[in-house]
Amino acid sequence: MQMVVLLSQLHCVRIWEARKKLGSLLVRAYRGEKVERTPIWLMRQAGRYLPEYQKIRAKHRMLDVIRTPELACEVTLQPLKRFELDGAIIFADILTPLIGMGVNLDFVDGEGPRIFEPLKSLKQVQNLIVPPAEENFGYTLQAIRHCVQALHGTPLIGFSGAPFTLSAYLVEGGGSKNLSAVKSFMREMPEAWELLQVKLREMIGSYLCAQAQSGAAALQIFDSWAGELSPADYRAYCLPHLEWIVNFVKKHTNVPLVYFSTGSSGLLELVATLKVDVVSVDWRISLRQASDLLRNRSVLQGNLDPTLLNGDPQIMEQEARRILNESMELPGYVFNLGHGILPQARIENVSWLVRLVREFKRG
Ligand code: CP3
Repeated sequence: MQMVVLLSQLHCVRIWEARKKLGSLLVRAYRGEKVERTPIWLMRQAGRYLPEYQKIRAKHRMLDVIRTPELACEVTLQPLKRFELDGAIIFADILTPLIGMGVNLDFVDGEGPRIFEPLKSLKQVQNLIVPPAEENFGYTLQAIRHCVQALHGTPLIGFSGAPFTLSAYLVEGGGSKNLSAVKSFMREMPEAWELLQVKLREMIGSYLCAQAQSGAAALQIFDSWAGELSPADYRAYCLPHLEWIVNFVKKHTNVPLVYFSTGSSGLLELVATLKVDVVSVDWRISLRQASDLLRNRSVLQGNLDPTLLNGDPQIMEQEARRILNESMELPGYVFNLGHGILPQARIENVSWLVRLVREFKRG
């Protein structure tokens, strides 16, 4: 009897070990391995389109949700309780690690993020600090540790903003139409720009590595504003710092790294020089074209226009199927939107999208 129990325990351990070695579907797809079906997760999957998220936000400020690990973890898990997603993304914001650097910011309801003293001088950049990881964003690391336990093997994605996108918020003071202030800062104040990039890349490198060490199974760098730059400016002012971050993260962790930007078709040949595992693209370019520009070296992610989730489910389905069919020709693909879910997204559409992607037969 004891022998039988022992053998069956051994069998369980073997299966568990084999699964661990194999890794999750999402992580295997991110590594470019052949997978049995296309994984799916959605940018901003925890957010205002969910009534349970709104309920929490009615009681707590955005920053309080992020800085209370139990709340951040609860919000992270909300979409996974409704939909069979292949990954969770930790609830935080690209801007929160700036607070520990000495930046005064808040999320203003109905407006978005606001930086109260936008950067204008070298002196302000000199005053920014880069505190140790636990001191700056310990609350997010704690939330990651909680979530990893609660997820029972579903991978958790960690993330950071890219230096240019964070600089854009720091200099513009919030969202901006043409990024004129940050572009002038970048071109006309070389010493201040260089120092800012060095401080940001150190913070970002340590943030990403600390997230992986806390249990994040993949990491995504959000460079939402990069598409506003010419290829020459991107090469001169952004690429060296992105390279530094990618090399740093690759040296200290072995989790897959995703680079996300929007409107960046003209930059993809430069993005191809970054040693990231995955490139997340928006809907303004076809997957085929994006893959050509990336010299078929990266796994791709994204491509569905998020507004499709707000309307007729049949039109959304047609477009999702078109993308899935096109993705069959690629070296690897993870289903996602081209940008975050909008607050108007219909929950039934999200459910249907997740089901149809999971049921789509590859080959
Ligand atoms: O579910 C997830 O994707 C994880 C959480 C997450 C948030 N922001 C929560 C959030 C992630 C990954 C981000 C990234 C982020 N934040 C980016 C990069 C991606 C992108 O969308 O381009 C940027 C540029 C930001 C900055 C930011 N934060 C903006 C512009 C806004 C206001 C606009 C908006 O959508 O409301 C935020 C606030 C914010 N961050 C919300 C959420 C869920 C809405 C907050 C609320 O009112 O409850």
